[in-house]
Amino acid sequence: MDKKDDDAGTSYSSARSSSHCMSRRSTIFIVVFLFVVLVCAGFLVHFCWPGAKEPSYPEDHDIRLPRSIFPVSYELWLQPFINGNFTILGAVNIVINVTIPTDNVTLHISDIITKNETVTIHSLHDLDGPGIRIKKQSYDHEKNFYVALLEEALEPGRSYKFHMEYEGYLNDQLNGFYRSSYTRSDGSLVLLAASQFEPVDARRAFPCFDEPAMKATFDIHIARESNMTAISNMPKINTTAFGENSQWMWDHFGTTLPMSTYLVAFVVSDFQHVESNYNDHIKFRVWARQDAINQTWYASKTGPQALSFFENYFNISFPLPKQDMIALPDFSAGAMENWGLITYRETALLLNPVGYSASSHSRVANVIAHELAHQWFGDLVTMEWWSDLWLNEGFATYMAYLGTNSVEPDWNVLDTFVVTDLQNVFALDCLESSHPISVAVEFPNDINQLFDDISYSKGASIIRMMNHFLTEETFKAGLTKYLNVHQFGNAAQDDLWQCLTEQGRADGTLPEHLSVKTIMDTWTLQMGYPVISVHLSRDGQATLTQKRFLMVNTSVSTDTHDYKWWIPITFTTQDSPDFSVTKASHWMPALGSSYVIDGLPTNQWHLFNLEQTGYYRVNYGVENWNLLINQLQDNSSVLSLVSRAQLADDSFDLARAGELDYDIPLQISSYLEAEKEFVPWSAALSNLAYLENMFTRTRGYVALRNYLLGILIPLYNDVGFEDNPDDTHSLQNKRVLAVAWTCALEYSDCVVKSVSSYANWMANPTKISDISDNLKPTIYCTAIARGGEDEWNFAWSQYRLSNVASEKATLLGALGCSREIWILARFLEMAFTEGSGIRKQDATRAFSAVAANDVGRDLAWDFLRNNVMWISNYLQTFTAVSALVTDAASEFNTPLNYQELLKFKSDFSEELGSATYAIDQSIENTSNNIAWMDNYYDYIVNWLHDHGYE
Ligand code: BES
Ligand code: ZN
Repeated sequence: MDKKDDDAGTSYSSARSSSHCMSRRSTIFIVVFLFVVLVCAGFLVHFCWPGAKEPSYPEDHDIRLPRSIFPVSYELWLQPFINGNFTILGAVNIVINVTIPTDNVTLHISDIITKNETVTIHSLHDLDGPGIRIKKQSYDHEKNFYVALLEEALEPGRSYKFHMEYEGYLNDQLNGFYRSSYTRSDGSLVLLAASQFEPVDARRAFPCFDEPAMKATFDIHIARESNMTAISNMPKINTTAFGENSQWMWDHFGTTLPMSTYLVAFVVSDFQHVESNYNDHIKFRVWARQDAINQTWYASKTGPQALSFFENYFNISFPLPKQDMIALPDFSAGAMENWGLITYRETALLLNPVGYSASSHSRVANVIAHELAHQWFGDLVTMEWWSDLWLNEGFATYMAYLGTNSVEPDWNVLDTFVVTDLQNVFALDCLESSHPISVAVEFPNDINQLFDDISYSKGASIIRMMNHFLTEETFKAGLTKYLNVHQFGNAAQDDLWQCLTEQGRADGTLPEHLSVKTIMDTWTLQMGYPVISVHLSRDGQATLTQKRFLMVNTSVSTDTHDYKWWIPITFTTQDSPDFSVTKASHWMPALGSSYVIDGLPTNQWHLFNLEQTGYYRVNYGVENWNLLINQLQDNSSVLSLVSRAQLADDSFDLARAGELDYDIPLQISSYLEAEKEFVPWSAALSNLAYLENMFTRTRGYVALRNYLLGILIPLYNDVGFEDNPDDTHSLQNKRVLAVAWTCALEYSDCVVKSVSSYANWMANPTKISDISDNLKPTIYCTAIARGGEDEWNFAWSQYRLSNVASEKATLLGALGCSREIWILARFLEMAFTEGSGIRKQDATRAFSAVAANDVGRDLAWDFLRNNVMWISNYLQTFTAVSALVTDAASEFNTPLNYQELLKFKSDFSEELGSATYAIDQSIENTSNNIAWMDNYYDYIVNWLHDHGYE
């Protein structure tokens, strides 16, 4: 929707104009004309599209670069003083193309000291001449602009070379070009430097046109000390001496393909690597610090396999000669898809060969597949602007399932999609304070807050929906076409819709009267999602109606938009249950009030939205719900695994929203005693967790606890407390759930076994503990909660000693389980203190561990409110603070909690700026929880009483 920066870039875009879904390569005139039109259209869409929020921008809200010049190529020289005073000496030469006459060169800069006397601008025709005279150099700090005002205008159609020398700084904030450190096994401290530029931090490392559509090539040169190694997006071509007798060397890297600034990367370290020869045309290396190099085995086996899978899937060879992946000791996100040099935090890449949990195993496979998918979706073809971030992240999230499934077919990860992503984001997207997946953004804060579950999980869910309604063949062929047409360029969602529509038409998989754009605009431009109600008449006529699913319908809502979607319909019935055909058999239009399907059998169940491939919920008449419950209780395996998870999630949330009697989901929960599979269990427990959370601080808790244990103990007995790494993934995951829940509900068998395993470990700390990796989170947490200072101190010392990042993460989480309030207070303070032993990257993890602890929650909330400025200065961002609010407030359900949140929002409105999605969601959640307590608490207490639980 926001296409102000229509692609007018360099000459690299590959215009395969034989296709209709062609890359937009146009004359300057058209560009300027379109620009004006689109700015106007953008305004209209922005302010008229219901559901789009009106941001509170300052007067001058255009913080985008002028469109008069575009970069073609960068030559970048950097000398970072890693073992010195952390300065970076830098120089750039940027070749720029002029499209509109202009008297200034404006580009992005942040936290850089320019050496103004070194700046020169020359016409490429006259490089040896005196150059264009510069009238004045200035800065616009709010926009991160550097402006060189010129004596004469630059001429359109010409190219120029801009040169600048400058001084930068290796910061400790985990963005830009930053420093990191670790301790070797011999106790010595070692420093390294790495980059993290997405979304807007390349400008901290070098002056640049820091917008995703301003693609250019990069020639990177890095000076490093002779005992270190430098790596970057492209292979190193050669190394030259720095000067006589110098300990320094220059590494020169090959010219990149045209790419966005946010994907540029470099790391200077003393790390080691392992190389794989799995792919014949790609040199694949995995890097880690020496003490962790044996933990790269899985990444170096799986990475090349996943890369080959994507080459086949997209039908486009990986365009670079090499791929590096590196595990960094300090890293803000989980991983970053820099083209040819993917960076990770250690927990997302490394696996201890001696033992690892099923969840670490899945996590590593998933993150690797996600980042490798980005090499095509994001790196080869990039979104035009951040408003289409969801295209990048939604795709990578979805493709990660396909990639993981190809390398680990036994895990059946495709079945887990609904619980991990779809149902998870359903819980957020049913709030009035949700936002459309496609939103207008300008400011860095706004861009940063787009990296949320809506972009990732809703994005992935609606892409999965397309895959199913178009069929796999059409989807895949359409994608290949899209990637080929836009490679080395940029695209917006409409470009993808166009390629998929053409493919769907060609294959006959899309009805003639519909385009992918018509369908998908209803999913990306509107927030939320529908619930379909199905009513079957006595003669087998199903009448479907749709409305937006809201957790609570507030009477005071100001949103008057008529939410309607184009909905792909699939269903099956009891007489011949078949869950395999997920191509839409009917399309429910986004117009009209109801839609009729004839010829359904009566007196037997029907089930809509097969495998939950549509991004919507389904409600039925009570008779049908009862037929489904009978089926679940008699022989649940007639219903597919995903359908069982779907019925649990839909029924619980429909009840929560007042659309269904709570008796229905509660009856569904009681069939679980017979359920053997992880996926339906996981869906049901996420929903039961809501009841548990709401009851935690009430007298009704005991009855609920006994009810839950009644369902869980058979599962616990079935899977057992003894873990076995040779069990299937699904069984291991099920055991983790069963043990975590029964211990949390204080089932004595679980608690006693956990406490004694931990005591054994404490008694023999030097012996490798026999606690299974899968059960560590529960066992550590239970023992620390039951124990005192000694148990906590022991975990802390193990935390300090461990060389395995996932083990450290588990211990850190468990340290938040203590019930000693002073221990928790000290732990919170340590989390936000430099040099405490907790890395900055892990501060929020420590906080959320305390916030998730029933004893620690209020302490965490007070700590946050009392120390907002301390915390935000330490983390250098307020977006992170709002994430902490989400953690602390997730179980809030009293009017006082609500008032406190409102006060927090108003007290810090200035600091929050426009980054308020998370706070608004917490506020709405709390008000929903309060209403829920009023409406359903007594009902559920009575239901439990009637079923014998007191
Ligand atoms: N592009 C992101 C990394 C990123 C996130 C950069 C936020 C800037 C801000 C990367 O592809 C990503 O999505 N990483 C995920 C892991 C993934 C498996 C979901 C992450 O960091 O959590
Ligand atoms: Zn991503």
